[in-house]
Amino acid sequence: MISLGIEGTAHTIGIGIVERDRENCTILANCSRMYRPEKGGIHPREAANHHAHHLPSLLRQAMDESGVPIEDIDLISFSIGPGLGPCLRTAATAARTLSLLLKKPLVGVNHCIAHLEIGRVMTGCTDPVLLYVSGGNTQVIAFMEGKYRVFGETLDIGIGNCLDKFGRAIGLSFPAGPEIEKLAKEGKHYCSLPYSVKGMDVAFSGILTACLHLMKKERMEDICYSLQETCFCMLAEVAERAMAHTEKEEILLGGGVACNRRLRDIVTTMAEERGAKCFSPPDELLVDNGAMIAWTGILMHESGITTELAETKVKQNYRTDEVDVPWR
Ligand code: ATP
Ligand code: FE2
Repeated sequence: MISLGIEGTAHTIGIGIVERDRENCTILANCSRMYRPEKGGIHPREAANHHAHHLPSLLRQAMDESGVPIEDIDLISFSIGPGLGPCLRTAATAARTLSLLLKKPLVGVNHCIAHLEIGRVMTGCTDPVLLYVSGGNTQVIAFMEGKYRVFGETLDIGIGNCLDKFGRAIGLSFPAGPEIEKLAKEGKHYCSLPYSVKGMDVAFSGILTACLHLMKKERMEDICYSLQETCFCMLAEVAERAMAHTEKEEILLGGGVACNRRLRDIVTTMAEERGAKCFSPPDELLVDNGAMIAWTGILMHESGITTELAETKVKQNYRTDEVDVPWR
């Protein structure tokens, strides 16, 4: 079965074409374009306009890259939520159009679960705790009693958003995560920051404010280093507790912030110290991408799920544990 997946929950519009052959996932194409605001944060309407503008050329590029004739596509998958309303609606409109045009079924995919499923199939881990760390999302997710459940999450902003906001304050361009990672490598001195783990949840906005205050008196490299160490250790702590609670022996990383090597090192050490294993797919599958939507669409469709046209209204606040998971 070949699925075309459209991702469009936030700043990235992506199209992936994926084939399933038994348990194997072959990525035939995975292209994307990213909206970068000139100044300030993401403006949802502008991001949606960006996505609409790029969709036709992106589709052509994905079809060319895959070498698949368009009539061989069996399924249209799209990110139905959670995300920014205008962006979601743009991706959904493209998916509806393709489904009607090609007379192929539609599947609306939960974006967070797609990060987990692509990681599972590409790394070979079977039943992991997912640490999903992106701009808008920070969640610890695991499969339990028939559903994917959220064991911990941010109480305010996403970790990536925290890094990007701090980056903007110090004059870095968006997305700031990779630049902060570079600066942090030159950090030598740990500046004290609030450590904000609350039960199984985390919060980043207080840490962000504290970093902004430190700008007057500390080296930028030291602040970046301290910001990373504090936030990443908080994430490793809640992920570890979710592993202990669920008795799972695998941890999987997902989301753009998982491109960060220091985060991977911290989580890998945590896993090894408890006799568990840490997995992460290649960077292009960590960030938002169409292939993860295409693949999860196949899993859903092959277990009997299709989304009728009338049910394709997007779900901005789609919760991970609302999704039935008959494929596991
Ligand atoms: P979502 O819609 O799932 O919230 P997103 O729109 O934020 O996702 P992603 O592509 O998953 O998109 O992640 C982008 C985030 O990843 C940005 O906040 C960016 O700063 C961060 N990021 C990318 N590379 C790194 C890195 N090396 N270190 C830290 N953060 C990084
Ligand atoms: Fe994401």
